[in-house]
Amino acid sequence: MKKGPIGIFDSGYGGLTVMKEIVSTMPEYDYIYLGDNARTPYGTRSFETIYEYTLECVKFLFDQGCHLVILACNTASAKALRTIQQRDLPGIDPDRRILGVIRPTAEMIGKISKSGHVGVLGTSGTIQSDSYVIEIEKQTPGIAVYQHACPMWVPLVENGEYEGDGADYFIQKDLNAILNQSEKVDTLLLGCTHYPLLLSKIQQFLPKHIQIISQGKVVADSLKDYLSRHPEMVEKCSIGGTQTFLTTDSTTNFDQHAVHFFGSEVRSRFVHI
Ligand code: DGL
Repeated sequence: MKKGPIGIFDSGYGGLTVMKEIVSTMPEYDYIYLGDNARTPYGTRSFETIYEYTLECVKFLFDQGCHLVILACNTASAKALRTIQQRDLPGIDPDRRILGVIRPTAEMIGKISKSGHVGVLGTSGTIQSDSYVIEIEKQTPGIAVYQHACPMWVPLVENGEYEGDGADYFIQKDLNAILNQSEKVDTLLLGCTHYPLLLSKIQQFLPKHIQIISQGKVVADSLKDYLSRHPEMVEKCSIGGTQTFLTTDSTTNFDQHAVHFFGSEVRSRFVHI
């Protein structure tokens, strides 16, 4: 058995907000990030397409030597994770693991809300799947979950318009849409790894008593906990402190944008999936 890096996947740049927290929590491991920028966004696509794209990317990361892959994308976690885990993984290699971002987030959000009324914002794919409603209710029975899809938020972020005036219109519109569902919502989850880039604008338009949860730190802590409970997986993860960035589209664009998500300069490599 050859040790390998931990794979982190997203349809685009969003997963870098998760990777940043993972690296800061566990800098010792080697990591490979794969952004499927050529085919982003996933959030507005059909189940079949999201599943097919995600499976291709997971297989690619396995081919790079990863034994553990994190789907740092809510849309892929909601629409493809379970099918890949149950249907594909046993045939590919039952000893490899794929983890998503929905479960760890759902586990935590119910514990944080005092009113028992939480809001979830995500892509159309994530919201239509009802994955958060199902998972949050499983973890915290009786909690009320309100959801709203924000299909324009990922394109705003991917196109570097997250600080522009155009973003204000959509952020206000979508925040109103979720808050109008209940006055009792006291916790709002950003259920898409792209949304932390919009945080300062969201805070600007959100009533002060509502707390906002981004996923990066939650997922990083949950991965650390997973590894502490799975020494057999730790054995398979290489320690070298390296970070490799791969994109299916322009490396120039990736390097320019990625710094805003990851917080430091990156140098990516093009890959064809
Ligand atoms: N970052 C992905 C997520 O967390 C969505 C981006 C997309 O629509 O491709 O859901």
